[in-house]
Amino acid sequence: MAEEQFSLFDSGLPAPTAATNPVDYDQIPDKVTIPILPGTYDNLDAIGEHCNRCYRCDLGQTRTHAVVSRGNPKAAIMIVGEGPGQQEDEQGLPFVGKSGQLLEKILEAVRLDSAQDVYISNIVKCRPPENRVPTPDEMAACKGYLMEQIRMVDPKIILLTGATAVKGITGNKQGITKIRGQWIEWEGRLCMPIFHPAYLLRNPSKEKGSPKWLMWQDIQTVRAKLDELTAADASA
Ligand code: URA
Repeated sequence: MAEEQFSLFDSGLPAPTAATNPVDYDQIPDKVTIPILPGTYDNLDAIGEHCNRCYRCDLGQTRTHAVVSRGNPKAAIMIVGEGPGQQEDEQGLPFVGKSGQLLEKILEAVRLDSAQDVYISNIVKCRPPENRVPTPDEMAACKGYLMEQIRMVDPKIILLTGATAVKGITGNKQGITKIRGQWIEWEGRLCMPIFHPAYLLRNPSKEKGSPKWLMWQDIQTVRAKLDELTAADASA
């Protein structure tokens, strides 16, 4: 036995990684001690299946559906929200309630189609009770799923809606009012912090300098960057 093991470890083959030696899929959801390493998943559907069987944090106890994504997995833009609300929990799709309707209008204003041009997900995949902000532990438990989504979708631009999305991805704890509208480079990707649509619903003024007015500036900045990157790709 000892000799067999020796020859196994001394095989001269590259050391196993998550990609070459996937973690047992059945073990991942329940055990927060088992990290979700880059390369754990080789397709986005498997993440969806896991999230619906996941108990890495207590949010799994109260969900109706895990809310994993909607949109185009090949899109150049990924949008990251905070976490599902009631409608999202019921339908299993992100941004389908009032915030989602406003998000659709914001995208349409710069000719972006939510089914074609973006891929939408959240920091946590299960609804926090009473729509409270997810705790750091809940965000940490879910982070591996999001990192795998980002790795596989490979977006050129990530829109971070609100402070929780910024904190959940980049670790930056600054208020959204301070950092919105400025590109952040994170892991070689361009991220744009923007107001969360729910914040805009609570602040309906369109006056110059208002949150809605600022969102209009920010989404135009994003559109211009997308056009610039697309043109650069076409001429490469
Ligand atoms: N708010 C979010 O942050 N995400 C959703 O999916 C819906 C509302």
